[in-house]
Amino acid sequence: MSFRQHLPIRPRRLRRTPVIRRLVEETSLHPSQLIQPLFVTDRAEGEPEPIPSLPTQFRWPLYRLNQVCAELWSTGIRAVALFPVLDAPLKDACGSGATDKNTLILRAIRQVKAAFPELCVITDVALDPYTDHGHDGLLNASGTDVDNDATVERLCAMAILNARAGADFIAPSDMMDGRVGAIRHALDEAGFTDTGILAYSAKFNSAYYGPFREAVGSAQAAGTPLLGKQTYQLNPANAREALKELELDEQEGADILMVKPAGPYLDIIRMAREQSQLPLAAYQVSGEFAQIHAAARLGWLDLRRIRDESLLAIRRAGADMILTYFAREFAEDFQGKTAATDSAAYSGGTGI
Ligand code: PBG
Repeated sequence: MSFRQHLPIRPRRLRRTPVIRRLVEETSLHPSQLIQPLFVTDRAEGEPEPIPSLPTQFRWPLYRLNQVCAELWSTGIRAVALFPVLDAPLKDACGSGATDKNTLILRAIRQVKAAFPELCVITDVALDPYTDHGHDGLLNASGTDVDNDATVERLCAMAILNARAGADFIAPSDMMDGRVGAIRHALDEAGFTDTGILAYSAKFNSAYYGPFREAVGSAQAAGTPLLGKQTYQLNPANAREALKELELDEQEGADILMVKPAGPYLDIIRMAREQSQLPLAAYQVSGEFAQIHAAARLGWLDLRRIRDESLLAIRRAGADMILTYFAREFAEDFQGKTAATDSAAYSGGTGI
C-alpha cells in the first residue's frame, strides 16, 4: 500500500472542486465596486484621442461622453470619475479656468447627469488641470511653494460649482490642509448638504502618476523639467503620517476616504480599513495600469489574470471600491463570463 500520512488537517480539501473553492472564497470583485476614470476634452467633433502610456484609454471629446457612459452603464459600471483636459492656452498661473462658470467639467457633469441621473458622477477638485505650471494649487509670492489657504479658498468655489452642476461626489485630490472641512462647510452653506466628499486622504507623492500627467498635460511646469509635489503629497516612506491624514479627513467630514496609489500601498489600505468605519476607496493609478499593459505587451504577463489579481488584492487589503482604468474591461468580461457560466469565473485568480 502506498504511503498515507495521518493528517487531521488537510487544507487542500477546501480546494478540491470549483464549487467548494467558491464557497470558501473570502473576497469578491464585482463591477458595481469599480469606478471608471474618464478624460474629457472640449471638442464638438473628431475622434477620441488615444493616450500612448494608457493603452485602451482615450481623451473623450465632450460630444462622445454620453455614448461612453451609456456603454459603461450597459456593462454594469455605475460610477465614473471625470477629469477635464484643457488646451494649453486656457491654463494660467492661478488656474483661473477652474472657477469659470462654464468650464468644461461643469458642462460635462450637466450633460452626463441629464442623460444618466442614476450614474454616480465623481469630480476631482484640484487646480492642476488649470494651472500652466501643473501644480495643484496657487504658488506663493516667491513661487517656491503652493499657498495652502489661498488654494483651499479656490477649491471651495470649485466644489460649489461642481455640486451645482450635479456632481454626486466632490473628490478633493490635492492634499492641502483643511480642505475637506472647508469644502464641507462651503457646500453646506450653499445648500448642497447631499453632495458627498470622497477625499483623496492618503495620496502619496508617487511616480506612478506619470501617464495621468501625460493625459491631462500637467506633466511639467513651463520651463521646469520636473514637477515636485513633495510639499503637499505624502512621502512614500510614511505610514503613520498617512493614518493621520485619513483621520483628519474623517474628522473634517469626508464621506469616503481614499488611498492612492493602491497596489504599492496595500499596507496603508489595510491600516486605513482597521482605523476607520468609513467606506474606503483605493485608486489603482495610471502607472499601475501602464505597468501591467507594458508587461502584457511584451508577452511576459497575462493581461486579464494580472488585471483581476491586482484588483482582487486591493479589495482583499480592505478597499470597498476601486478607481481603475480596467473598470470597463473587467465589467465586459464579467458580463460575458456570468452569461456563459456561473462557475468560478473570478475565483481568487485561480481561473478554474
Ligand atoms: C490631480 C490628480 C492626479 C491623479 C488624480 N488626480 C495626478 C497628480 O496628483 O499629479 C493621478 C491619477 C493617476 O495617475 O491615474 N490632482
